[in-house]
Amino acid sequence: MKTDLRRGYPDLHEHLATLAKRGLLVTIDEPVDKDSELHPLVRWQFVGGLDEPERRAFLFRRIHDGRGRKYSMPVVVGAIAANRAIYSAGMGVPVEAIQAKWDHAIAHPVAPRVVKKAECHEVVLAGAALKGEGRGLDMLPIPVSTPGFDSAPTLTATNVITRDPETGVQNMGTYRAALKASDRLVVRMATRVGGAGGYLHYLKHQKRGEKAMPCAIVLGCPPYVAFMGPQKLPIGLDEIDVAGGLAGVPIRVAKGRTVDLLVPAESEIVIEGLIDTEWLEPEAPFGESHGHIALEEFNMPMRVTAITHRREPVIPSYLSQVAPSESSVIKRVAYEPLFLAHLRDTLGIRGVKGVSLHEPLTGLLRVSIVTVEKGTPRTEVWRALHGAAFFKGDCSKITIAVNDDIDPDNAHAILWAMAYRMNPVEDVKTLPHRGQGHGPKREREDDEDSTLLMDATMKGDMPPLALPKREYMERARAIWEKLGLPKLRPQPPWYGYSLGDWLPQWDEAALRAVAGRYLENGKISEKLRRNGLKPETKFRPGEANGKGAGS
Ligand SMILES: Cc1cc2nc3c(=O)[nH]c(=O)nc-3n(C[C@H](O)[C@H](O)[C@H](O)COP(=O)(O)O)c2cc1C
Repeated sequence: MKTDLRRGYPDLHEHLATLAKRGLLVTIDEPVDKDSELHPLVRWQFVGGLDEPERRAFLFRRIHDGRGRKYSMPVVVGAIAANRAIYSAGMGVPVEAIQAKWDHAIAHPVAPRVVKKAECHEVVLAGAALKGEGRGLDMLPIPVSTPGFDSAPTLTATNVITRDPETGVQNMGTYRAALKASDRLVVRMATRVGGAGGYLHYLKHQKRGEKAMPCAIVLGCPPYVAFMGPQKLPIGLDEIDVAGGLAGVPIRVAKGRTVDLLVPAESEIVIEGLIDTEWLEPEAPFGESHGHIALEEFNMPMRVTAITHRREPVIPSYLSQVAPSESSVIKRVAYEPLFLAHLRDTLGIRGVKGVSLHEPLTGLLRVSIVTVEKGTPRTEVWRALHGAAFFKGDCSKITIAVNDDIDPDNAHAILWAMAYRMNPVEDVKTLPHRGQGHGPKREREDDEDSTLLMDATMKGDMPPLALPKREYMERARAIWEKLGLPKLRPQPPWYGYSLGDWLPQWDEAALRAVAGRYLENGKISEKLRRNGLKPETKFRPGEANGKGAGS
């Protein structure tokens, strides 16, 4: 990644250059309507049958809106996490090393460095420049995310900065914000148990009798900083320090022009303002990451006091709504390692290999798959099930344990494990007292949800999976390809393997069969003939057989 060496980490422009070099960026110079066409176009790569590695970031350079008005600023969608390859480019390490990099950054945060001159202050708009059509927020090409349902262009790729009025520590969260006027928007900070970091600050400002909370909404920052927005870090930990931990050097920050907050110096756009702590305003409908439309609710209005930006900014927008989406990829890559670390390191559970948050449609929120090694004691499997189910209040309503031969992204394989490896009366438990979590929740807001735990691991050895062994499938694949037959997309399981119950004598017989020597097997079995047995009586070579019957 080519980076400004004095800074030591890439900004969004340099990141886009890296994506372009790796073939991960599509540049669109056709005119595109940001209100009705832009998000639906990118959506096709999530619903059009493309594989995850085929997804790209999309940079739109000729944007107009539903009024036919043209915009000069480009918009990029998918630049942070359209797929893992893009996320890994932003993290500056291969996909397999992302978790270790997160762990290291959280353990070794680096405080930011305050600079006087910042790129994000190259253009400063305030006062009259924020008032009226075509000015302020209305000059920004913010897309409508879910045309046909959403009521406003909505900021999605945000890093929303607020400060704890008691401790002075800043928070940074990704929260949506709907545009309402050229100088007003409405932010949604979740009020769930624990609350979004910004919401907890809002409560403190309210308690102190302060009528406004200073806020800076950053659009487009260095990827290391962008990743902080959706990450679940402990409350009270300043995300910019962890971003410094990812970068390995201090992140450059500058004081806002109208609010006493530190913003990343290389931000593309910063919207500064004051959040009203008294009045709320209806916001949404908006297509939410839980996969349903969030209906209208009262949220926090913010009066914009300044918009600052780089001379040639790029505006990022996240595709969210139904998973998979950029929103689910960015969260998945970050959250799954936290689940695994919790089970393996905090709870010290032996045999846990991974936690997979199910993505398509369920959106990481409702179904978690815990992978454990075959032979993991049942008590440890159940500790893992409970640990994963209750690690986060709004994830893992349904938690399923499987062995490591099951691909957790393959729902067919999971159903197969449930069908053959689980005895419902022994291996399924339901537990009461779960909050409703992030989801459509209009009807019975106070009702509790509950939890379903399933142990779909093998309880003992089983016969092999009935497909030809790997070497034979690979040999046949070479022939398939030589014949020019249609391109294969192997779906695990695509070869047979042992599940523990298999004897060397059967291996030897199978080897003779593939060598065309089955007649020898016939001679062996002829010598083992018995009388007085019921058909389907088991026979295990080398062991005592046909107990109690004419042996
Ligand atoms: C695209 C996207 C949109 C999000 N929108 C919101 C939102 O509107 N409100 C919210 O509270 N959380 C939202 N989240 C989740 C938060 O970013 C996440 O809970 C994060 O941990 C919040 O940071 P905090 O813990 O510092 O508050 C969103 C995440 C993503 C990736």
